[in-house]
Amino acid sequence: MRQEMRSYLDTPVDRRGTNCEKWDMLGQHFGRDDLLAMWVADMDFRTVPQVRDALVERADHAIYGYTDNSAGEREAEAGWLWRRHGLKVKTDWIQYSPGVVDSIFFCVSSLTGPEDAILIQSPVYGPFFRAAKLFERKLVTSPLICGESGWRMDFDDLEAKFAQGVRMMILCSPHNPVGRVWTREELQRLVDLAARYNVIIVSDEIHADFTFDGHRQTRILALDGAERNCIMLTSATKSFNLAGLRHSSIIVSNPDLRGRISNALIRAHATSPNIFGSIAQTTAYRFGDEWMDAVVEYIRENRDYTVEFLRERLPEIGCVPQEGTYLMWLDFTGLGLSHEDVLSLLVNKAHVALNEGLFFGEEGRGWFRMNLATPRVNVEKTLENISNAIRSR
Ligand SMILES: Cc1ncc(COP(=O)(O)O)c(C=O)c1O
Repeated sequence: MRQEMRSYLDTPVDRRGTNCEKWDMLGQHFGRDDLLAMWVADMDFRTVPQVRDALVERADHAIYGYTDNSAGEREAEAGWLWRRHGLKVKTDWIQYSPGVVDSIFFCVSSLTGPEDAILIQSPVYGPFFRAAKLFERKLVTSPLICGESGWRMDFDDLEAKFAQGVRMMILCSPHNPVGRVWTREELQRLVDLAARYNVIIVSDEIHADFTFDGHRQTRILALDGAERNCIMLTSATKSFNLAGLRHSSIIVSNPDLRGRISNALIRAHATSPNIFGSIAQTTAYRFGDEWMDAVVEYIRENRDYTVEFLRERLPEIGCVPQEGTYLMWLDFTGLGLSHEDVLSLLVNKAHVALNEGLFFGEEGRGWFRMNLATPRVNVEKTLENISNAIRSR
């Protein structure tokens, strides 16, 4: 990484007072404001400089009327997917929605009926549970297994549940919070299984640009047979720290599925984009390569630092180093405290805000998720604080 880029990422930027959820809503969520914010999944890094410039230039125009997607947006995204992931998509497969969670809801509402069951692999990102609940679909969970070699899917359990009438699976790939980058073999097996039982896979790939140590993301649509029953959800918002701009893509090769999702977007009157979201996504996909490489390297270094710290100073906290995502899933059950007591220790003694594991399902009891997309100084301080809090119990 160039030195200039390292200092860009290393320099803390004060986010307080910008209405940001991560730093300005600590009091609301944790009951106090004086915490290091290591929770909400956005980054404390400034985005790609060209994105900022494009937004400033457009803002300077001072007229922000109804808009279409920015010119070349689909080509820019297809270019990114090809350059970075080796996936060829046709531009007419891409539709836009305000966010990936919104897209999940559009898929559930348009592709399943009230009698259908939806499967998710817990522990998993909280809104996956909400997707079934909000639309009154039956929720089926297939818990991930944590074994000697890390986290894996339970294919026997998946098959048994698919056979009982699951209509849709919402896949998290890479997986938040356990940090797995599913291998091509695992994903192909899953796609084949889903095809056999007529299950639609909605693959949430919002974290796909964050992979480490040669673990390469396989995009769902790159798999054999995936064009029939798979939907890929993705967004530049996670990759380039643009979540507040609310923009994302739904990529579907099957024209029937695409048409049904398109109808759901029309019914929700969600077909025209936010000017700034569209410009930011287009610019990031065109010019974000160097920035992205540097951020991934920086996060990997933060991860390695954390793993080493835990090994040497806090061996009672368990973790499987993540292969992807900037989120680390930490097992505090070894402390012998209740979930609530660990939360209180983190907040009131260590003064750090981590996402609490129950947001990811009951399997998250005693677990907490730490966000590593932040200047190193915050990671160091968080770990020191946790260590001091535990040692002074
Ligand atoms: C797996 C996953 N999907 C979706 C989202 C949110 O996406 P959006 O803000 O586009 O709705 C997140 C944010 O943390 C996430 O981790």
